[in-house]
Amino acid sequence: MSAPCRGPPGSGKGTQSPIIKDEHCLCHLATGDMLRAAVSAKTPLGIKAKEAMDKGELVSDDLVVGIIDEAMKKPSCKKGFILDGYPRTVAQAEKLDEMLERQGVKIDKVLDFAIDDAVLEERISGRWIHPASGRSYHTKFAPPRVPGVDDVTGEPLIQRKDDTAAVLKSRLESFHRQTQPVINYYSKKGIVATLHAEKPLSDVTDEVRKVLS
Ligand code: AP5
Ligand code: ZN
Repeated sequence: MSAPCRGPPGSGKGTQSPIIKDEHCLCHLATGDMLRAAVSAKTPLGIKAKEAMDKGELVSDDLVVGIIDEAMKKPSCKKGFILDGYPRTVAQAEKLDEMLERQGVKIDKVLDFAIDDAVLEERISGRWIHPASGRSYHTKFAPPRVPGVDDVTGEPLIQRKDDTAAVLKSRLESFHRQTQPVINYYSKKGIVATLHAEKPLSDVTDEVRKVLS
């Protein structure tokens, strides 16, 4: 099974992907999580990516294609994978197709998290994450058992630097201009499943399960 998840900031990609990953034994590759880890470790990749991420712009295709190529070599990705937030440009989608064709792998489904922009500010402003695992919580919709603390590790949760109203605006602009065309690219291949991502979290999970069953 191989499934890219595509949707605007706060639409639920990072919340649903780990559930699918566990239920289908897939590897979960989230470019946003990988880039944030590189920024916080101040690696050469992180230093190059930081400026675009802080502004809510997309990191250059070259950098992101490189990390996905590398990550997909993991043995755990051979059984199947879920890509969270990748590909985000048509150029990334074309590169992914070329790589998968070389490996004889086909994409089963593209999950399109459809949601109105107006809902996203509340989602983003209440989000808390566990940086090491990428687990997301929400003060109102998905609170941790103890406020500010990760349920699994007991470690502190943090808010993302790009989760401000101003940076969200720029992330949404990038999404509509650069990522929306990716859906047309995959629609032509007949593999897009559109989800009602504004529904409550467990309803979205049920929809995802149905699409992948
Ligand atoms: P990335 O980390 O991917 O951020 P994003 O696309 O802006 O998406 P988010 O992580 O904000 O949203 P999500 O859909 O995962 O929401 P979540 O499930 O957490 O990328 C960050 C940056 O990295 C980009 O801006 C770019 O600079 C760079 N980048 C990454 N990939 C790139 C690429 N391929 N190319 C170039 N640059 C790239 O949910 C949000 C909140 O809502 C949570 O608190 C959650 O608990 C809650 N929630 C989730 N679902 C529901 C629901 N159904 N009902 C109520 N609450 C819900
Ligand atoms: Zn995410």
